[in-house]
Amino acid sequence: MERLDKILAHLGYGSRKEVKGLIRKGFVKVNDEVVYDDDYKIDDTDCINVYDEDIIYDDFVYYLLNKPKGYLSATISINYPTVLELLPYRKGLFPIGRLDLDTEGLLIITNDGNLAHNLINPKKEVEKEYYFKYSGKLVENARELCLKGININNEYITKSSKLEIMNDFEGKIILTEGKYHEVKRIIKYLGGEVTYLKRIRIKNLELGDLGIGSYRELTKSEILDLYEKNEKN
Ligand code: URA
Repeated sequence: MERLDKILAHLGYGSRKEVKGLIRKGFVKVNDEVVYDDDYKIDDTDCINVYDEDIIYDDFVYYLLNKPKGYLSATISINYPTVLELLPYRKGLFPIGRLDLDTEGLLIITNDGNLAHNLINPKKEVEKEYYFKYSGKLVENARELCLKGININNEYITKSSKLEIMNDFEGKIILTEGKYHEVKRIIKYLGGEVTYLKRIRIKNLELGDLGIGSYRELTKSEILDLYEKNEKN
């Protein structure tokens, strides 16, 4: 269930304040009944109508895919299958951001360029969490170095990241940007080598127990949440 004013604002009917005005003035119907209450909650089956026009809320599609190894995060490729080949419907779709060929895990596939921009833009500082296995021994102060930012081969300094070493062969790391091979390069700098990598979360959206190679559609509240600003922005 999601608030009506939040959904209308997301769909571009105005700011939260403006859409509250629309609702109170009686321009909005839910299932053919005028609704005057701006915190009215609706679910996926409700039909919203504004200014006597039904809202087609399905122009955009959003899939959450558990990417397997061996699939390219691209729309076309000659050498490898692309992640789009795992979906029932591909026209106009693209993955938001990239996972390496040998990385598994959470990938959002959509035709909504605005959402892609919101999630990828490093200025938005959207958290992306990875689980990894590693070999080698990481330096003692690995966590602090990650927090401070790491100079990768004098090419760039990583934004602050949160590292959790779970044991001698597993860890988790949270990044807010997506530079080329960033997790692998950070772990290498810290003395280890990533042997397995899987993205498990973007913002509040978790991969959960979705099987490898499987996908599901995002719910409306998940989509709205991905659009919500971080507290920092
Ligand atoms: N960092 C990497 O090194 N690889 C990925 O696929 C994603 C983040």
